Amino acid sequence: MKRRQFISAAALSVTAMSTFGFIKFDGEKYVGDCATTSDILGPFYRPGSPMRSNLHIPGEKGEKVTLSGKILHQDCTTPYKNAKVELWHCDATEVYDNTSDEFRYRGTVMTDDEGNYTFDTILPVPYDAGGGLIRPAHFHLMVTAEGYQSLITQLYFKGDENVAGDPWASRSTDRVLDVEKLADGSNKVIYNVGMAPTLAVETASLAKLIGTYQNETDPESTIELFDYENDLWIKNEAFGSKFSYRGNNVFESPNNPEGLEVYMTFEIISSNSIKFSIGRENGEKRTFIKKS
Ligand SMILES: [Fe+2]
Repeated sequence: MKRRQFISAAALSVTAMSTFGFIKFDGEKYVGDCATTSDILGPFYRPGSPMRSNLHIPGEKGEKVTLSGKILHQDCTTPYKNAKVELWHCDATEVYDNTSDEFRYRGTVMTDDEGNYTFDTILPVPYDAGGGLIRPAHFHLMVTAEGYQSLITQLYFKGDENVAGDPWASRSTDRVLDVEKLADGSNKVIYNVGMAPTLAVETASLAKLIGTYQNETDPESTIELFDYENDLWIKNEAFGSKFSYRGNNVFESPNNPEGLEVYMTFEIISSNSIKFSIGRENGEKRTFIKKS
């Protein structure tokens, strides 16, 4: 990840706590610019998946795989103990479990003393995302480690013909991974994560923004904003879409390719009068006004 440019939020109602990007000289070489690149959250994240490393389901279809790796501090060397790693992916028939209490192919683990995490599951398959886009097979990962920006990313697999045409995967070559075939017919994928600090919004500021908003031109159309782990989310059918603070009252949906970023820009007229516009930088925007 390129170190994020620090954006001043001075004189505005939403203020930021910041940490600068990290590179240091360790006596031999510069270290620290190894942070894992992020990727879009996608519409299917659900928090609160069960604590388990084994996601297998009796009678399931699909190829067995073990996904493992280390979560590392920003020096790219020191293991991060007790980081929360959440994995979610579709099943062998392209389906995400967005509603059931079983949280199929969704799980949470904490890293051990050496920063290790492991999941036993099946390889996800490519799926039709609509609009002519076939998404390559991918794992979704969210890593939460105190002191760092929570990381949302996706892991792709070498040999998947859909990677080249996917706007996210094709720019994520560091996350297109080898799938090693083992003697017993199962597979192994390894992925290490380097954490990175970045901007976060003060909780009190975020609290002002949450609530129900009505479309300026169509009051029947509403959007519900809520906060979860210091980020702003738009409610959807599964849980929500996350937006991260970028400074100057602007939030961005992580992490669309250049030119496709989606921004929410807030205008805080008074504590009872807040509106935001949402859309791409040079595209059409919709404006929503907070319901009092
Ligand atoms: Fe997905």
